[in-house]
Amino acid sequence: MLFSPYPKTRREELFDRENELKEIEDAVRRGERLILLLGLRRLGKSSLLNVALSELPNPSIKVDVRKTYSEFSSVNRYVIGKMLLSAMGAKRKLLEEAKIFLKRVRGISISGFRVEITSKEFSITELLEALNDYGENAGRVVIAFDEAQYLRFGGATRYDGILAYAVDNLENLTFILTGSEVGLLFDFLKFNDPEAPLFGRYHHDVVLNRFSPDMSAEFLRKGFEEASFPVTEREIDDAVRELDGIPGWLALYGYIRATRNLGHNEAINEVLREAKSMIQTELSRLFAYSPRYRVILKGIALGYSKWKDIKDYLTLKLGYINDSNFSKLLENLVKSGYVEKEGGEYKIPDPVLQRIFREL
Ligand SMILES: Nc1ncnc2c1ncn2[C@@H]1O[C@H](COP(=O)(O)OP(=O)(O)OP(=O)(O)O)[C@@H](O)[C@H]1O
Ligand SMILES: [Mg+2]
Repeated sequence: MLFSPYPKTRREELFDRENELKEIEDAVRRGERLILLLGLRRLGKSSLLNVALSELPNPSIKVDVRKTYSEFSSVNRYVIGKMLLSAMGAKRKLLEEAKIFLKRVRGISISGFRVEITSKEFSITELLEALNDYGENAGRVVIAFDEAQYLRFGGATRYDGILAYAVDNLENLTFILTGSEVGLLFDFLKFNDPEAPLFGRYHHDVVLNRFSPDMSAEFLRKGFEEASFPVTEREIDDAVRELDGIPGWLALYGYIRATRNLGHNEAINEVLREAKSMIQTELSRLFAYSPRYRVILKGIALGYSKWKDIKDYLTLKLGYINDSNFSKLLENLVKSGYVEKEGGEYKIPDPVLQRIFREL
């Protein structure tokens, strides 16, 4: 269903994104080893990744690093190793064929379709080497990390170093990384830091954009038609304007209307409410670092766009802060993807979040 509020997994459920799918496919076929899927929250990165993996002829495994981190409060090598192995366990053919290579990896045991880490000797690098050997005959193995910026919490496990080693030496592997918090993703990867392991490494970036107004309208029409739910063109136009081409909000709006039989305005309000509860945990984590984030977001949402104006607003509300501390907070918000900086002005690029932040 086009409006289903979960990441899509099949091509038929994915609206458009033909070019992006082809771009990924071509990059993998060319043997590129590092692909990044970039885009704001709710633009459809996870969906695109899922569908790309299901369409590619290559064996593939995927780990959702944000989910893993929330579940285990850690992404050390045992945790990520466990997730990689369990992703493999879910793919019978892959596991069957890769078994003889996996047997060489120290610290894991295989019985039937269960692969487990059994000792401290386990190393991610050895696991990747085994997959690389498997890939030599089976074809390039694609390893995907959704919300990869969370890999920066690896502690003693340095995933940037592991990735750099793999990209340089394991020619039968392709890594696909996505991240909503693009700034944090690049902070983790550090392509421009000469001291960092991934310095200067080639990466193919696939950038997801929002739907154009025409595409957004088309998406809504198609979804409502599929759900046999009647709407007017005026409602569609209005929703397109309010939700500004962000597939996640468009789908949620459609889903809410079609499943709960709500009117247009009610559904828009409900999208705001749902969006709010969706980002609540993320926001509360952010505000726990500093309550100033709340006020800065609110200020920008209210229309203060210049560095100085935002700082004045913050000072008025919460008192003195020095320039460099303020800049750091603002910069972190830009990295998190909540705030965008364009031509010296700061703004909230997502209209739904903008409305939510106004009420903070
Ligand atoms: N091209 C699309 N066609 C149909 N539905 C889509 C499309 N893109 C996104 N969606 C829907 O939008 C919602 C958000 O998509 P998804 O979770 O893939 O985005 P995301 O960029 O990974 O979001 P987040 O940054 O929150 O992880 C989901 O309900 C998904 O079904
Ligand atoms: Mg996602």
